[in-house]
Amino acid sequence: MIPAQFIAQKRDGLAQSASDIQAFIKGLLAGTVTEYQMTAWLMAAYLQDLNEEETWALTSAMLNSGKILGLPSVKRPKIDKHSTGGVGDKISICLAPLVASQGVAVPMISGRGLGHTGGTLDKLEAIEGYQTRLDAKRFETIVRTVGTSMIGQTDELAPADRTIYGLRDVTATVESIPLITASILSKKLAEGIDGLVLDVKVGRGAFMHTLPRARRLAELLVDVGTRAGKRVVALVTDMNTPIGRTIGNALETREAIEILRNLGPADTRELTLVLGVEMLMLAGVTRSAKDARDRLVKALASGEAFECFARMVKAHGGNTSMVEDTDKLPTTKQRVAVLAKFSGWVSAIDPMQLAQVALELGAGRLRADQKIDPAVGITLSAKVAEHVEVGQPLGYIHVHSKKAGADMVDRVHAAFTIRKTRPKESPLVLVRVPKTGKR
Ligand code: URA
Repeated sequence: MIPAQFIAQKRDGLAQSASDIQAFIKGLLAGTVTEYQMTAWLMAAYLQDLNEEETWALTSAMLNSGKILGLPSVKRPKIDKHSTGGVGDKISICLAPLVASQGVAVPMISGRGLGHTGGTLDKLEAIEGYQTRLDAKRFETIVRTVGTSMIGQTDELAPADRTIYGLRDVTATVESIPLITASILSKKLAEGIDGLVLDVKVGRGAFMHTLPRARRLAELLVDVGTRAGKRVVALVTDMNTPIGRTIGNALETREAIEILRNLGPADTRELTLVLGVEMLMLAGVTRSAKDARDRLVKALASGEAFECFARMVKAHGGNTSMVEDTDKLPTTKQRVAVLAKFSGWVSAIDPMQLAQVALELGAGRLRADQKIDPAVGITLSAKVAEHVEVGQPLGYIHVHSKKAGADMVDRVHAAFTIRKTRPKESPLVLVRVPKTGKR
């Protein structure tokens, strides 16, 4: 494989062999392929696309660039879930312990927030003392004894993705379906899982803005994951409005704990249950979706799921009194109300607009090395399809100074569309791959 010829092949739209793709990735890590050659190929791949064969070759080369965890001492079926990223997406925090409480091991390696999407690790770190950097041995022990552990990406897992993602981020090559597929799957397959449920977000607050593109991403993820010998299901879910009623790290952790307490917003609960059903079925715990749902509903009501979460936090060195009493989680000194200027039905809430405000308040980061503020964020008092009267709060901005909140009020207000007629509610799950029935 000669790098310049390899790049030219993709530039000219030709299909590439698995062995050449593998050699190119190996060369990147060895330093015989430069970052500018990699970037040129990434742009060619972005423009010319990769077929399924090439995507599988790229995934496997990236996966094999590092260690693959076996988790040999974990005897239960190992199933994980991955979301392509949304606004207010705290689902992993309640889903992993819920599913783990039902006899499934959930080894979850999560990311940090970057740009408009939040990251599970930042949310968990709102709990004082919670360690996200554990070695592979400790991770395995917690998965075996508690049922789930949520940690950060280590340098050893899929190192090629770290370099390639960094290059894509600054060269406008992130939004490529095959490149996203290889990036996600190389990291997830390195966890040593038996199965994976993918939550592919579509809409204004997602990477994929249209249903056809989201469907193609879901199909490619399932096809490539299945080739890797894993059981994989993808759900395309709506991301045109924030999930639940909170955006911001500690606020979202609090909401996830409310779900585990059998409380919390209906949409957060429903998405947790829908994904949980898929995970129980992939694990082979039950063959009936109804039975799976019944078990999960019971585990929320009985406190089993909450207990599992508390045990995981303890095993990670976290302060469990913050889990028992979420008022102890970091909070801001001020809460500035955003009041409705008209009466009517909330027909839309723009997730990007709110994510941008939260980011600027300090809840997120624009560069990977930036520190975040766990306490700041936005809570929604009104959701889509709810009625508001003029002067009623649409939400609150959680900030450290009244001035910082006042500066954002108009922007948060502008995220809401209020109309005279009640909007039709859109379904949460738009597509399942494979189609229901072909499990
Ligand atoms: N998430 C990832 O891990 N990789 C991508 O390329 C996009 C989203």
